Amino acid sequence: MKGVILAGGKGTRLLPLTKITNKHLLPIHDRPMIFYPLETLRQSGISEILIVTDGKFIAQFKKILNSSLQKKLKIKVLFAIQKKADGIAGALKLAEKFAAGEKIAVILGDNIFEANFREDAKIFRIGAKVFLKKVPDPERFGVAEIRGSQIVRIQEKPRRAKSDLAVVGLYFFDKRVFDIIRKIQPSKRGELEITAVNNFYLQTKSLNFTKIKGFWKDAGTFASLAEATKFIRENSKK
Ligand code: DAU
Repeated sequence: MKGVILAGGKGTRLLPLTKITNKHLLPIHDRPMIFYPLETLRQSGISEILIVTDGKFIAQFKKILNSSLQKKLKIKVLFAIQKKADGIAGALKLAEKFAAGEKIAVILGDNIFEANFREDAKIFRIGAKVFLKKVPDPERFGVAEIRGSQIVRIQEKPRRAKSDLAVVGLYFFDKRVFDIIRKIQPSKRGELEITAVNNFYLQTKSLNFTKIKGFWKDAGTFASLAEATKFIRENSKK
């Protein structure tokens, strides 16, 4: 399985810091944010990784993820540039050539996980898989409505959530994902949404899910960035 980290977007919730750097280069405890999704993929057994980001801070990404670090971590990192922040699925579209028909694990660059997904990656075959986490504030996320053991619908940031299960920023897709992205329409906010992609898989009965264990944070706001920093600091040896 190959890995894709999505690290573009506008980072508006972290202004003014994101005027002078990319959100995923901001620190969480002692390292830039991008290191955490990178490590989640690596610990899940994925070593070929594409980072999609806007072009502005590409030199800084390349400096911090230089070839000697890649060698040390036994990973290979490539980059793709998203010129316009047209959504998560818009960024993923740029990974088609990199994926070259293989299955991919896609992780949002601001998602911090305690767990790794090695076992899930080993058994993933076809369709798509999403990961769910019970949260107190589901309206901030994609929310999965579940009946029995099936997801019946995912709603992107609903005003009133039908459950407290957030769809976290890690997705497994088979090679069909790129055809699906070509079929979906931009949402009201003008973005190609990952939730539209997942709902497309759902319609063809090829979407599975797992509830995740351990700490998880979308570190895209000042409050959640501070919470992620606190967790990492308290759980690291340094
Ligand atoms: O964190 C989980 C949530 O992430 C999911 O529950 C939602 O379904 C999903 O839409 C997403 O919601 P956010 O509002 O948190 O997405 P955000 O716009 O913050 O983008 C998340 C990451 O995706 C961001 O760190 C960088 C990347 N991204 C985003 C956009 C809009 C790109 O690379 N390019 C983009 O154009």
